[in-house]
Amino acid sequence: MKTQTILITGGIVVNDSGMGYADLLIENEKVKAQALPGTFKDLHVDVSIDATDKFVLPGLIDPHVHFNSPFMGSKTIHDYDNGTIAAAFGGITTIIDFSTQPKGGSLLENLNQKEEEAHGKAYIDWSMHGIILDTDPKALAEIPQLIDKGVPTYKCFTTYRHADRMTDDQGMLRILETTARYGGMLMVHCEDDAIIEYHLNQELAAKHYDSIYHARSRPASAENEAIKRVIALMRECTAPVYIVHTSTAESVDIIEEARQAGLPIHSETCTHYLALTEEALKLENGYYFICSPPLRTQRDIDYLWRAAADGRIEVVSSDDAGMPSQERIKLGKGRFDKITNGMPGIEPRLSIMFTEGYGKGKISLPRLVALTSTNPAKLFGMYPDKGNLFPGADADLVIYNPKGKWTMRASNLHMNDDFCPFEGWKINGHVETVISRGQFVIKNGELVGKPGHGKRVIRKLLDAV
Ligand code: URP
Ligand code: ZN
Ligand code: ZN
Repeated sequence: MKTQTILITGGIVVNDSGMGYADLLIENEKVKAQALPGTFKDLHVDVSIDATDKFVLPGLIDPHVHFNSPFMGSKTIHDYDNGTIAAAFGGITTIIDFSTQPKGGSLLENLNQKEEEAHGKAYIDWSMHGIILDTDPKALAEIPQLIDKGVPTYKCFTTYRHADRMTDDQGMLRILETTARYGGMLMVHCEDDAIIEYHLNQELAAKHYDSIYHARSRPASAENEAIKRVIALMRECTAPVYIVHTSTAESVDIIEEARQAGLPIHSETCTHYLALTEEALKLENGYYFICSPPLRTQRDIDYLWRAAADGRIEVVSSDDAGMPSQERIKLGKGRFDKITNGMPGIEPRLSIMFTEGYGKGKISLPRLVALTSTNPAKLFGMYPDKGNLFPGADADLVIYNPKGKWTMRASNLHMNDDFCPFEGWKINGHVETVISRGQFVIKNGELVGKPGHGKRVIRKLLDAV
């Protein structure tokens, strides 16, 4: 095969540890060199890109998306074709989706089905977490096999009892024990189901059906208590845990205290918890903003940004889980508790982080890279191939042009949805070019990638996790 070389000159290369002017040489699928500007000026290359005044970032990794996923009577809107296109337009070069164990069925079989579903479709690389619904010996016996197959991370829920998704304390301890033995990491959706059901019944009894009651019935206390409970269980049986989609200010301190006490606990928040408040649920189309945990308050947003900046929050994911709008209306029948939970968000993540985070001085660009690329790569077993632009890494990168402002609308994005949670938001700059393992996916804002280029990433956790 002929060697394909790409030279990117004049750009500001950003890694999680710092940023500076550098030229980047790509050879085939890998970063060959990162060097002072002008170093390669006499080198003959196949393609040259002038990135003057632009930022060159490692391709983003979104470690929390739900593609083609059945939930609460509906199915998420993205698949490996349209979902990876939208991801690429959002500067993402790797996603991690979920394979859900059918109740009473095999997670390994579901994983194979998911692999078939993705075959020949993905424009960027992809990987899989498991979702564990059963904790009987047969189901637990699949965990070491999953880890061997490159799926060392799996999620369970402390809520959704009514949707038959909840794992109780005994089940959680069994998963923790298996995880401790075989070396995986458990991801937990933390909301205390008893607290939620109590409030839900109260709201429904009072005939409170509007979308804002979604937030009232799932208070911050439900999330905080569930995190505390998981930590208590981790003390009984210690294994790595990653708390998904944290949304409350208090969750930051609860998790940090456990970390300081030596527990191997990690956490993420999501773009929407850094940008939207529960006020969105009071809008005429408030039902579109129903997700769990629910959107919170400005105080939570401010605290989450501070924690994202100082490292207490390690990752910002999208939790992309948009549902078809018409179906949401139909299923909801005017009642918040009947509406499928989840919002689309895979494409806006970088623009929102750049504009609201970096643009408003809340995070530095190296920190943005850490939260959206390097830390997901490290925590989910893809580093050093992914999450950085040092020699030897996969040539996954995004060139972000910081110039110009535009207005985000569902109609000018590429997500398979007529709803965008950030409709009307003013955005600084745009994703100009995206390269995945040395191949252009987006070139000057146009899709040029090919379906099937994206490969499954077989993951192995670092010992540090
Ligand atoms: O509301 C949400 N977050 N829907 C997606 C499923 C999940 O719990 O992550
Ligand atoms: Zn969840
Ligand atoms: Zn999710």
